[in-house]
Amino acid sequence: MQKLSSSELREKYLRFFAERGHAVIQSASLIPENDPTVLFTTAGMHPLVPYLGGEKHPMGKRLTDVQKCVRTGDIDEVGDATHCTFFEMLGNWSLGDYFKKESIGWSFEFLTQVLGITIDKLAVSVFAGDDVCERDEESAKIWAEKGIPADRIFYLPRKNNWWGPAGQTGPCGPDTEIFIDTGKEKCCDTCSPSCDCGKYIEIWNNVFMQFRKTKEGTYEPLENKNVDTGMGLERTLCILGGYQSVYDTDLFADAVKLLEDLSGKKYGEEEESTRAIRILCDHIRTSVMMLGDTKGITPSNVDQGYILRRLIRRAVRFARVLNLPDHALTSLAQIFIDKYKGVYPEIGDNSEKIIAELTKEENRFKSVILDGYKELDKVLFGIQKHKEFASKNGQVVEDVISGKAAFRLYDTFGFPIEMTVEIAKERGYTVDVAGFEKAYQEHQEKSRAGAEQKFKGGLADNSEITARLHTATHLLNQGLRNIVSPDINQKGSNITAERLRFDFNLDRPVTPEEIKALEDYVNGAIKADVEIICEEMSVDQAKEKGAVGVFTAKYGDVVKVYTIGKYSCEICGGPHAKRTGELGTFKITKEQSAAAGVRRIRAILE
Ligand code: SER
Repeated sequence: MQKLSSSELREKYLRFFAERGHAVIQSASLIPENDPTVLFTTAGMHPLVPYLGGEKHPMGKRLTDVQKCVRTGDIDEVGDATHCTFFEMLGNWSLGDYFKKESIGWSFEFLTQVLGITIDKLAVSVFAGDDVCERDEESAKIWAEKGIPADRIFYLPRKNNWWGPAGQTGPCGPDTEIFIDTGKEKCCDTCSPSCDCGKYIEIWNNVFMQFRKTKEGTYEPLENKNVDTGMGLERTLCILGGYQSVYDTDLFADAVKLLEDLSGKKYGEEEESTRAIRILCDHIRTSVMMLGDTKGITPSNVDQGYILRRLIRRAVRFARVLNLPDHALTSLAQIFIDKYKGVYPEIGDNSEKIIAELTKEENRFKSVILDGYKELDKVLFGIQKHKEFASKNGQVVEDVISGKAAFRLYDTFGFPIEMTVEIAKERGYTVDVAGFEKAYQEHQEKSRAGAEQKFKGGLADNSEITARLHTATHLLNQGLRNIVSPDINQKGSNITAERLRFDFNLDRPVTPEEIKALEDYVNGAIKADVEIICEEMSVDQAKEKGAVGVFTAKYGDVVKVYTIGKYSCEICGGPHAKRTGELGTFKITKEQSAAAGVRRIRAILE
């Protein structure tokens, strides 16, 4: 096995697939485009969903990339050896091009020839078959031909060997997963990669996307059979280096060293400080990635901004555990900026913003955290008093922090509810979270619970309705530039089946007269019933044509440009309506501030 640095692994992977006809594409933003049901990009395939569904990709049928991903489902687990909120996924795709034979063949070749993993260390699983899809004898046969012995080819059910759809509907199919056999004893006679005994560690997942799950829950065969593979960079580095923890890889080496120097603690020596070091490394790395993203976000109380706020505030809390000096978090952020700016240029480009926003949020929280701790002590003291009093009357009072008290900690002292729950747990208390939610709902117009719900959900359905709203978004974007200011740029876009939401830079509200003019502009385009034309061209040609878009593409990329008559011309992945006449009537329902210097418009098609 070859011990590799993170940059060597990225480089070798992309080169291997580029040599096999794959176009190297850039990582998409961490913030999904037009996907209302999930807050962050969670897998390499995520930005490619329209193309896996049949939409043509401008770079061709074979693609490869390293995608920035965030999964925050278990933020509270971070601190152990393996959990991370940010990770990178190496991926290669066939969009209706090659299938099982090439996909498995190249995975095998890459693992054995390039990474030097010997066959005796590999085990694989294939789909056992059910009433939707047949048993995957084809993949098993290919693996056997490569030399994987029968007792290391496991047929597993849907629970293990089926991937997707990422949300409620969309592309999905059986997969074959590749594992490293750690050499541990089998835990039982039926020991397989489906048990959690730790003998097998998953390294790569090759999904054969042959179906589309419909809203009704049925599976329709896809016209094109696709391949979607995903390999976790951090996990693979661990395996190749023989590390027990992702924090031992080169990705974190400088960060861990800085925290050791600043805290005087040795990583790995005591449990509490080791956990704090890991949490700081993870949370600040993810914060850097979110703040520095092409669609960079800032801390707030809703959606992605709330997750970012939670990460930074939790980092501040654990910086206190390590007694770190004031500059620690920004110094740590600078280490990650330096580590990643070569891979994701936006991180370097936005370095000043990253440090400024991090400092702002850190100071905001530091100014109240001590008072918050005092308030919490008071609450706990109150519970104890109440308990003593009640027990004299033969009553039992439980160690629960009320929803109201938790809300006060949130509202006045900036303690995210999850943080209150975590601190309470450390001290042997629980929190009435439902009571908190109720208090929150009563006080806030925007519900964070909605964001959490979205986070738990999956990808959007690429229905005709969302395609129409997407077209309306393009018209609105150009309308804003024509009517309000030529300097307006998109800062974010989010579409549900009900409405569009569009964020853009402007340091004042849009006036009622401008709103009316914008509606007239979009409705004028709808009335003209123009055809939406999609053309592929180089980035330079798109620029020349005056297309709106972010011109950060490398590698001489080909892009798709959608033109809506004289009304709009924009670089975009699609999908869109066929003609503007399909759109109905466009109506702006709300205009508000989204962040400093950013306005937000919500609109519907009636
Ligand atoms: N989509 C699959 C995964 O996330 C393969 O990339 O595992």
